[in-house]
Amino acid sequence: MKQQDSQFLNTFSVVIGSLLALTILLFALARVVGAMTQREQLRSDPDYTAGVAQNITPFARVAVAGQDNSALAIVETRPSAGGTGPAIPETADAAYELACKTCHGAGIAGAPKVGDRAAWAPRIAEGKETLYKHAIEGFAGKTGVMPAKGGHANWPDELIRAAVDHMVELEK
Ligand code: HEC
Repeated sequence: MKQQDSQFLNTFSVVIGSLLALTILLFALARVVGAMTQREQLRSDPDYTAGVAQNITPFARVAVAGQDNSALAIVETRPSAGGTGPAIPETADAAYELACKTCHGAGIAGAPKVGDRAAWAPRIAEGKETLYKHAIEGFAGKTGVMPAKGGHANWPDELIRAAVDHMVELEK
């Protein structure tokens, strides 16, 4: 090997070696910084802590006679009449969107279309009570069949009345 070549090789090895050392150093530094910041932030993240708290709650609790066990009472989070059935909407608007709009929004199957005054005026003239009754109990009139409660038998009458009010309101 010529002297020039070995000189080059020496320099080259030193450069490669120091680059390698720098790589390892940066990697180690990144790990240390990550451990000091990322993990801490994760632990204080409310979503994360809530998840952990949920995962470690005991799935059974014991009521002890003679002690205050009120914290163990089973709380119904959603008062739905149908038990595990689909959720009952909270507002008249939501109920209309979910149950009535299919027919009354488009005016299909003989349903009086929302916005069609000529179709609604004679019905509104019958009085609200009649409209409520027909919507709740179902109704087969001259143009088609209105299913009882729009097909949602487990919905409270109140909600259907509110949905009727909502439809009549849209007429104005
Ligand atoms: C499957 C289609 C359909 C759905 C869903 C539906 N309706 Fe109807 N509805 C009708 C038809 C058809 C009529 C017209 C019946 C007739 O007069 O012949 C009607 C009529 C009515 C009337 C007028 C009754 C009268 O006395 O003239 C009201 C009020 C009414 N619907 C309310 C509702 C409400 C509130 C909902 C949602 C909870 C709903 N409808 C969902 C088809 C439907």
